[in-house]
Amino acid sequence: MQVRSTFDAHPTLIKTRDYRHIRVDPLTGVLGAEIGGVDLREPLRSEVWEEIAQAYGDHQVVYFPDQDLTHEQHLAFSQHFGEISRVPQLNSVEGYPDVQIIRRLASDTGRVIGENWHADSTFLDNPPTAIVMRAVDVPPYGGDTGFLSMYAAYEALSPKYKAFLEQHSVVHSATRIFGSAYLAQGRKYNAGAARDDLKVEEGDREVAHPLVCTHAATGRPFLYVNKTYAQRIDGFSNEESAPILAFLFEHVSRFDFTCRVRWRKNQILVWDNRCTMHRAIPDYTGQHRYLTRVTIAGAPPAR
Ligand code: SIN
Repeated sequence: MQVRSTFDAHPTLIKTRDYRHIRVDPLTGVLGAEIGGVDLREPLRSEVWEEIAQAYGDHQVVYFPDQDLTHEQHLAFSQHFGEISRVPQLNSVEGYPDVQIIRRLASDTGRVIGENWHADSTFLDNPPTAIVMRAVDVPPYGGDTGFLSMYAAYEALSPKYKAFLEQHSVVHSATRIFGSAYLAQGRKYNAGAARDDLKVEEGDREVAHPLVCTHAATGRPFLYVNKTYAQRIDGFSNEESAPILAFLFEHVSRFDFTCRVRWRKNQILVWDNRCTMHRAIPDYTGQHRYLTRVTIAGAPPAR
């Protein structure tokens, strides 16, 4: 029998499909696709929505260039992905509490929201299922968003390590985002970038989610852990957790599990917040960047 000292699995590549009502242009073999041939200002016919849902299920992150939507149209399109909710830490557009703001002024120099690889608000009992983001005003270059596939990251692990991880949960909290660990940090967000009336105890509240989850729609397993909110492996000491989490953070951010999306004014982008992570790339200091986002409610992540 041949014994291998390293395991070199690669993730399954996404199969291309024939679409009749939309154009789908994959960005990489593991996630991301541009969708064309559809006007999101109009109500979607069921056959068009079914193809968008198929492409979203396969590619996990989909974006639609040149969609000049009003807030109402943004909300109406978002409703196709599920029930609309909000994340606690972001401000909203006046008169539209469900349309939340990601904004950095040209004069801002503080921290950029979302600089680490993360899924949104995994400190909640029911983290969001998806985010539908709209580019209102973006720099001519810089300020891209990186995405990575947690399906791909899971698939590239050895069977024995997968079996080990499947037995465990991770404790998540927002302590470094608006809890006591945030207060202890010197470097802050710019005024207005995030809500400043959140309770420190809410930031410190802990919740455990399985480290390997099953996607409710696709049935595929994915890793569920991120550097922003993960505190430790449930039941392990911080010292016992640290090397496992360090390995996982390094592993999931392998370049071949990622894609990078360039924003254009009026681009709409949807990311699956269960099986992907994202990070804001802070390379546009001195330029204005303004996006609005609608959050789709979630269920507790499950094995
Ligand atoms: C976020 O992490 O929600 C923001 C992503 C971005 O600004 O690109």
